[in-house]
Amino acid sequence: MPAAGDPAPDRLDPWASRQFADYDRLIRQFGIDRFDPAGLPSPSKLFRRGVVFGQRGFDYITKAIQDKRPFGVLTGLMPSGPMHLGHKMVLDQVLYFQSLGADVTILVADLEAYATRGLSLAKCRDIAIDSYIRNYVALGLRPERCQIYFQSQRKQVTDLAFLLSKKVTWSTMRAIYGFKDEVNLAHVQSPLIQMGDILHGQLPAFGGPRPILVPVGVDQDPHLRLTRDIAAAHRLLSLQPTKEGHVGVFVKGDYEGSVDRLLGEARAALEGIGFSRFTENVPYRALYVEDASPARIVDMDFALVPVESRHGEFVFLPPASSYHRFETGLTGGKMSSSIPESHIALLDGAKDVERKILTAKTGGGATREEHRKNGGRPDECAVYETFVYHLSDDDTELRRIHDECKAGTWFCGECKGLAKERLQTVLAGIHSKRDEAGGRLDEYIRSA
Ligand code: TRP
Ligand code: SF4
Repeated sequence: MPAAGDPAPDRLDPWASRQFADYDRLIRQFGIDRFDPAGLPSPSKLFRRGVVFGQRGFDYITKAIQDKRPFGVLTGLMPSGPMHLGHKMVLDQVLYFQSLGADVTILVADLEAYATRGLSLAKCRDIAIDSYIRNYVALGLRPERCQIYFQSQRKQVTDLAFLLSKKVTWSTMRAIYGFKDEVNLAHVQSPLIQMGDILHGQLPAFGGPRPILVPVGVDQDPHLRLTRDIAAAHRLLSLQPTKEGHVGVFVKGDYEGSVDRLLGEARAALEGIGFSRFTENVPYRALYVEDASPARIVDMDFALVPVESRHGEFVFLPPASSYHRFETGLTGGKMSSSIPESHIALLDGAKDVERKILTAKTGGGATREEHRKNGGRPDECAVYETFVYHLSDDDTELRRIHDECKAGTWFCGECKGLAKERLQTVLAGIHSKRDEAGGRLDEYIRSA
């Protein structure tokens, strides 16, 4: 968490250890949209409680869920350090979308870890399997329509990264990431590989165009912006609201095929979903849809992607992203894989949990008396945060902990006791399933 008075960063750095607390400012500064859980069927606690606070393009996912269209969720893991509760939070989101019918892709970012953390691919593999994937399976990830791959083993990903890079300039990379002259080119390529990760799932061999959600921490937003921009740059058509409040379909300036024919096919596809009032202006490369309001743009996009796919390569629906808050470390600073006391690791034993919770920073009074008199500050308490993110599914219970802590009638001793007990139960559950999970990895991991 930045100290008060830290200068505002003008760019997000996905490779820095720094974290940000002022999410409202990030939303304003980077044009992230707020996340509204209202569009989700029985949203799980991370969505209800504003832990997932922002998104880009999430309306494609909402729409897919509503219309029962196929959609996917994709996440990448950095194989370094032990898996802790902060990592589990991402998997919890993946499990929620899997329960709604999303296909699941999980990738091991071994090329990125090699480029930016100096790990060998072999080491990445060991860490990924033992510290992450076995836990994912133990946590309930289902093997149906689910695949895990390694970046270094999927040629379609690296090829796609290469091919899409034709539309990425060095000045864009420098502007987004602040790369200096000394940067190594493997590092420069890692966001392009990530673009390949995110978009290859829409290639015909991997399921074809469909919305794919990437749930991440906000530090990853630069990669998502780059990927969404490059996906848009490969589209042949763009959809824009007109000033009359309708929607215009425009053929991109660099499209060299027959504009007339493309607009004709677009029109037929839009007629197929019920639109009937069109004005065509071929010299302007435009088709105005006068009975479409901008609220229908997502529907129209679903209908137009198959048309464009017949005439162009790499036609993808915009990938969606959602952004979650970072959990504060137990010691009050940032939660970090490299600082054991800052996190609960999934492989921690009962004794570790007890010690870490006992010494965790709370928002409680210095003494029981003072706590009774002045109440505690749950909103500044790492233990309370553990209930919000992980340990209490019941909003009524959570509110009671919050309110009674504030009123000085619920005390840190009891509160920590409850947190400790629940954590030990959750972790023991994972530990008991890991062996069996280890024998089932072939159902998940693809060798290419
Ligand atoms: N850059 C991510 C990280 O640092 C890992 C990653 C690679 C990833 N490819 C991805 C995350 C695709 C989401 C989607 O953790
Ligand atoms: Fe934190 Fe619980 Fe103490 Fe309140 S009672 S300050 S929530 S540990």
